Amino acid sequence: MNFDALPEVALARDLLRRWWSVDLDFAGLGDLPKVKHGACEAARTLATGTCADTLRALATTFAKSRAITTVPCHAGLLVVAAPVVEYTGAVAKLAGIVHASGIPAATSEAELTRIRDLVGSAAAAVDRARPAIIAPTTFVHLYTEIVGDAPAVRDVVKLLGKVVKSEATVLIHGESGTGKELIARAIHYHGPRAKKPFVVQNCSAFNDNLLESALFGHVRGAFTGAVKDQPGLFQTADGGTFFLDEIGDMSAALQVKLLRVLQEGTLMPVGGTKSIKVDVRIIAASHKDLQKMVDKREFRDDLFYRVNVLKITVPPLRDRTSDIPRLAQHFITKHWRTSATGTPPPRLSQGALARLVAHAWPGNIRELENEMERMLVLAGSDTQELVASMVSPRVAGSGGGTDVDRRRPLRDLLAVAESDAIVAALGRHVGDRELVAEELEIGRELLDARIVALGLGAPPGSAS
Ligand SMILES: Nc1ncnc2c1ncn2[C@@H]1O[C@H](COP(=O)(O)OP(=O)(O)O)[C@@H](O)[C@H]1O
Ligand SMILES: [Mg+2]
Repeated sequence: MNFDALPEVALARDLLRRWWSVDLDFAGLGDLPKVKHGACEAARTLATGTCADTLRALATTFAKSRAITTVPCHAGLLVVAAPVVEYTGAVAKLAGIVHASGIPAATSEAELTRIRDLVGSAAAAVDRARPAIIAPTTFVHLYTEIVGDAPAVRDVVKLLGKVVKSEATVLIHGESGTGKELIARAIHYHGPRAKKPFVVQNCSAFNDNLLESALFGHVRGAFTGAVKDQPGLFQTADGGTFFLDEIGDMSAALQVKLLRVLQEGTLMPVGGTKSIKVDVRIIAASHKDLQKMVDKREFRDDLFYRVNVLKITVPPLRDRTSDIPRLAQHFITKHWRTSATGTPPPRLSQGALARLVAHAWPGNIRELENEMERMLVLAGSDTQELVASMVSPRVAGSGGGTDVDRRRPLRDLLAVAESDAIVAALGRHVGDRELVAEELEIGRELLDARIVALGLGAPPGSAS
């Protein structure tokens, strides 16, 4: 990955060069650091290799101090360096050093502090650009198309085991884009009706007459233009499952007809005189609270009791942010078009993930899926890393869009700050979580949980 392209690195480099005429560099542990400062270059010719010795000594210092360090070099200049740490599982190892070398020893303490801050911010940016570690789920189940590990998702999946076997009507309640249709499909395709049709109709999509005709069909001559008998979707779904989306938007008249299907298994086509028998399992979904609609007499109570036999509540994504890393990863794989060369899908950087986790996702999982598709398109086919700058401004919250889009709940701001603080502290302490917990004055367990939730590392003890 090209760290020089990171804005924080470019900014730090530019300021260091202009104010102190020193250079910022990133040195891997294996390679010899480039030394560009004139005075330092002269000293190097006198004693070849000593600058590299200084940086090697720094690596040893980091192992103990775990902090931004200032050391004098053999030529009487200063080196300011910050460690870049790689965390894999519970293990952290030094991956490289960001350093400004060749600072005149006479530099004032105030100026040195500013240099340290610049080097530190560059090192933090490099840290954030590193790939996020997304822990594999420990929750194994049959419904692999449903990704997620949050307690609420586990509850839904556990319930599915029972729901699938039964023939009862199911009501799925949840905001738009939370996965209601995905769950309905899972119930159908994992159940005994799997080989029969799965039919979907959104009840708010049409006007009343069109919806009635679409659901129940019509007979020839029922209305102008009805030139022949037309079976409805309930007949198409015969033997299978009917997913009635946004059932709360159904008119009172249609609610009566639907009740009849549920009670007697019969329906009457528009303009018809003979009722037709159908065998359909109904799964209904609504983002509205049907119980409240019943209380306000906007929804028939008898239909409500028929529909609400088994209820599944799908939480909004903002209430299960711990699943965002895994879902983001899932959508990268899902939408990655492998090229002829079979390039693996790009990885998500820690910084990009921190922004995704911080967003409130009013459009829920559908919005996250769209965002990941957008990032993949933006990144192109030869990118290996999806970095923070590729997150759309609306999601990243940095301007753009309407005033409504720019609103940032305190929760989001806190999540960004939290992620930044943890990343910085992990860097300072070379991944030692005990020390990070101590510094941040939080419990070790909470720290581990937040590291996993923010995609900054794996749970302790997990091999990776
Ligand atoms: N838990 C999940 N795991 C994987 N993909 C999901 C999950 N929940 C939703 N999706 C995907 O998000 C998109 C929107 O879900 P959908 O079921 O249409 O939501 P809803 O019916 O509640 O509006 C779909 O592409 C769906 O496959
Ligand atoms: Mg939907």
